[in-house]
Amino acid sequence: MSDAGSVAVLAERLAAHPRTTVLTGAGVSVASGVPSFRGMGGLWKGKRATDMATPDAFARDPAGVWAWYDWRRQQLAMCAPNRAHEVIASWSRSLDDFTLVTQNVDGLHERADTENVVRFHGSIWEVRCWENCDASPGSWWDDTAPLEAVPPPCPYCGGLLRPGVVWFGEAIPPDALERSLAAAECELFIVAGTSAVVHPAASLVDVARDHGAFTVEVNPDETPASGSVDLVLRGPAEEVLDAVEALGDRPA
Ligand code: APR
Repeated sequence: MSDAGSVAVLAERLAAHPRTTVLTGAGVSVASGVPSFRGMGGLWKGKRATDMATPDAFARDPAGVWAWYDWRRQQLAMCAPNRAHEVIASWSRSLDDFTLVTQNVDGLHERADTENVVRFHGSIWEVRCWENCDASPGSWWDDTAPLEAVPPPCPYCGGLLRPGVVWFGEAIPPDALERSLAAAECELFIVAGTSAVVHPAASLVDVARDHGAFTVEVNPDETPASGSVDLVLRGPAEEVLDAVEALGDRPA
């Protein structure tokens, strides 16, 4: 794990209550038993997760893509937030100006009671009409109940439902993008558990740096962001963030 000095640097920064933004990726959920996209476990029935998360893949085989999302929803229902989610949730309550931008669609940050969450890539627990039929709300809505059919039908038009996640080639929801860009103009920007290869999420750390933020990466592995952040904390997020929190001097 990263050295005690680096952990102390982040703890001291946080103790000053800076305007803080945390960007998370699949790595923060690994300790909860959720496979990351590009690591081991990013395969399902021989297919790469990244190949199924596209509008083309869904158009070709909605039942196959939904079978994968249904399987992930069932797995996630059995997972619980880990120490990384808990520490981030604690910061969201104790820091004066805090935003969490997450690329994760698993809902674990919300289940840890994190405040001010921006879901950059949507949520696996939401759905939308694939055809955007006139009868449906026109945006994603909550659907956490186990699926009765795969693929599930739109309750408004009988057509297809699609998962409420942002696929490769799709635009980030405008509200999420706007809030994230505003939050990137902060004093402390922490990027945790992301391979930092998917844009525009990976560019948020550049926005933060350009704004003058102190930038930190928490990851057991090197990423494209590693060379340009001010501080690298090498290690699993659940261990590193726990160590930072243990040194913290902030009211709960
Ligand atoms: N703690 C922190 N980081 C970890 C841990 C851990 N315990 N275990 C693994 N990691 C790191 C990996 O080293 C890797 O850098 O987490 C990162 C996970 O990377 P990806 O699987 O690429 O996930 P992510 O960066 O979230 O992917 C971005 O791509 O597939 C799309 O839309 C999907 O939101 C996703 C986006």
